[in-house]
Amino acid sequence: MKKVFVSRPIFPDVIDRLRRYFEVDAHDGLALPADEIAARLADKDGAFIAGDPVGAKAIEGAPNLKVVSNMAVGYNNFDMQAFNAHGVLGTNTPDVLNETTADFGWALMMATARRITESEHFLRLGKWKEWSYDAFTGSDIYGSTLGVIGMGRIGQALARRARGFSMRVIYHNRSRVAPEIEAELNAEYASKEDLLKRADHVVLVVPYSAESHHTIGEAELALMKPSATLTNIARGGIVDDAALIDALRRKQIAAAGLDVFEGEPNFNRNFLTLSNVVLTPHIASASEATRRAMANLAADNLIAGLGEGPRAGNPPNPINPDVLKK
Ligand code: GLV
Repeated sequence: MKKVFVSRPIFPDVIDRLRRYFEVDAHDGLALPADEIAARLADKDGAFIAGDPVGAKAIEGAPNLKVVSNMAVGYNNFDMQAFNAHGVLGTNTPDVLNETTADFGWALMMATARRITESEHFLRLGKWKEWSYDAFTGSDIYGSTLGVIGMGRIGQALARRARGFSMRVIYHNRSRVAPEIEAELNAEYASKEDLLKRADHVVLVVPYSAESHHTIGEAELALMKPSATLTNIARGGIVDDAALIDALRRKQIAAAGLDVFEGEPNFNRNFLTLSNVVLTPHIASASEATRRAMANLAADNLIAGLGEGPRAGNPPNPINPDVLKK
């Protein structure tokens, strides 16, 4: 029987699915450090990974390793150069989380613009004594300009929702999307600089890479309107968190909504000193149904990638399909 490692606690029935095909070594505790993950991978044929880093050292130390399945759409936790060099297939879980993540992007953007968590804290602290004309006045979503940076599948799902709020949609992406998609979304392509100057609400949905590192830093924040909000549902590192803290402190922009952070879960604690930021612990895809769909898709990828089950040899979501040809 082939051996697989599961890096974090996951739905028990998904572990049971894996046990039908494999000898499973399931880690049942807090996230492991990289060297312990590497040690657990050393004798394995495959792995089910939930966002943990799998780098060159782990790959080099696991001669039997064939498939590493990520339960996430983003896979910046994988060193794909090392995967390719050693013929290891990486897989991810796209599409099943698009709508749930887009819903959350809206929830976070709206909570940020309308100061929902800040006002709830005020209420919980017993500070609500009377109605006031200027209490927690925020900025409107309806009729405003949405700026989407990253017009992939989640960015498009997010932009599609803007129609119901009569918003103007501008977007920036590495390449323009097809004209029919622009027409369907009523979305106008803009340079990053132009988008930052014009948008009332900027939402980040780009994958993390060396190229997207600090897409938003001091210079970019300086271009935004003082009334604008910034929402990040993509990855930590796309925003320069220290620069954002400084901009929020100086009210250079109105507010930010953040689901992801540099160094998470050890995020910059200075965020906690600010009232104009909404903070959530990387939960954009966390509906019960979607997390189940992601876990099952990650299992499908691992099972098929290791040559088992109904799709043996043909996993649904290969990141580096060329290794399958070898
Ligand atoms: C979550 O962050 C994902 O990449 O799926």
